Amino acid sequence: MKRILVVDDEESIRLTLNTLLARHGYHVLTAADGPAALEVLADQEIDVVLIDVRMPGMDGIELTRKIVEQEIRTAIIVMSAYGSVENAIEAMKAGAYDYITKPFKTDEVILTLAKAEERENLRRENAALKAEMIGQYDFEGIIARSEPMKQVFRMITKMAEYKSTVLLTGESGTGKELIARAIHRSSVRSNAPFVAVNCGAIPENLLESELFGYKRGAFTDAHSDKKGLFAEAEGGTLLLDEIGELPLALQVKLLRVLQEETVRSLGDTKDKKVDVRVVAATIRDLSEEVKKGRFREDLYYRLNVLPIHLPPLRERPDDIPLLIEHFIRRNNRRLGTLIEGLTPQTERMLISYPWPGNVRELENTVERAMVLCEGQRITPDDLPKSVQETQDLVHLTLASGELSVKKTFRIIEEELIRRALAKTGGNRTVAAKLLEISHRALLYKIKDYKIN
Ligand SMILES: Nc1ncnc2c1ncn2[C@@H]1O[C@H](COP(=O)(O)OP(=O)(O)OP(=O)(O)O)[C@@H](O)[C@H]1O
Ligand SMILES: [Mg+2]
Repeated sequence: MKRILVVDDEESIRLTLNTLLARHGYHVLTAADGPAALEVLADQEIDVVLIDVRMPGMDGIELTRKIVEQEIRTAIIVMSAYGSVENAIEAMKAGAYDYITKPFKTDEVILTLAKAEERENLRRENAALKAEMIGQYDFEGIIARSEPMKQVFRMITKMAEYKSTVLLTGESGTGKELIARAIHRSSVRSNAPFVAVNCGAIPENLLESELFGYKRGAFTDAHSDKKGLFAEAEGGTLLLDEIGELPLALQVKLLRVLQEETVRSLGDTKDKKVDVRVVAATIRDLSEEVKKGRFREDLYYRLNVLPIHLPPLRERPDDIPLLIEHFIRRNNRRLGTLIEGLTPQTERMLISYPWPGNVRELENTVERAMVLCEGQRITPDDLPKSVQETQDLVHLTLASGELSVKKTFRIIEEELIRRALAKTGGNRTVAAKLLEISHRALLYKIKDYKIN
């Protein structure tokens, strides 16, 4: 069934269109303003968006721009009042496919939708064909062609119809959240919500009620019932990010939820059934955490049903040129720059750099270089000092004759961390920013390398 999102601030219009389109066999969702529409589009596959041009706050033209900027795949049709066609035309310049005038005739709406769908189908076929021809791989917005990443794609496709828990591991910036979203979108649950929570960012005493909800009166400030994130994700997918940070007491509760598929809100006496697929993500090696007694073994096995490991970027250099090209294209559109590419030497530097912050660091590096770049090609001068200096470090390390990629990388990584800490006088928060890794990842690495 085709899925349509109707965005209009007027409730009567949303209702009318909902009834009309549902009668013609569409699955209809509605949003009352731009931000709400973007939220829906971030979570769900929508074939066509029908947008009212005139809305308070973010108007239809701005919303169209945002959808195009964020590369959300959907056909946009705007609705404008009779006599204000200029608005419609402006929206089409921004990327809308067509427009209809209000008040609308049923036939006109249905015909316009059919045309948009047809075009969208053609575009999809073309994109698939093109991707095949040039051997590129863009799976749900994940850019990769290296063998280990292709294997990840295969895993995602295979497990789409199952409900089993997925455990995503990988260093900071390797794309764990991106993959979690792709798992949701390509699964049979894609119509239901995707909800993400960072277990490391919420204080322990709040996390429990955040996850499971509470009943009114459960504690002093509980003035009304609150739905937990498990309930919010009903029918869909819940990403438990940084699962390694989950306090032991909550690990016990989570295990129970996973085993019994029920949750009990704080202050409630009854369990409620939930149907949620859990995807857990972590930068830690959970089996190590288990050995150290920081993570429950039973929960680890319960989570690790379908493990997916995302290799660090330095172990899949084939993906680097593809990612650079993708980021350049995207930023040209977003920033209005006209960068064509990079000089061969710059490309070599970017391929050999060990990317401790992985794809996120590459993404930021490309964006910064594009802003600094004075010509149409990015040169080594546009790269941050860390990348330039690392070239010498890489050469020195290579000169030592060490052949193990892992060992070489560790030498370089340790050196980069020492430099960043020295530069910031030991300030770990600032050092983490310079290194473009999370604060938590830095603490973890400092321990690992035994740096004082
Ligand atoms: N293969 C990829 N193709 C395109 N963009 C990617 C890819 N991998 C990662 N990115 C981008 O890199 C950034 C970091 O990815 P993401 O947030 O998913 O990483 P993460 O593993 O969750 O990191 P952290 O552990 O620090 O939370 C995001 O902006 C994401 O869109
Ligand atoms: Mg993340």
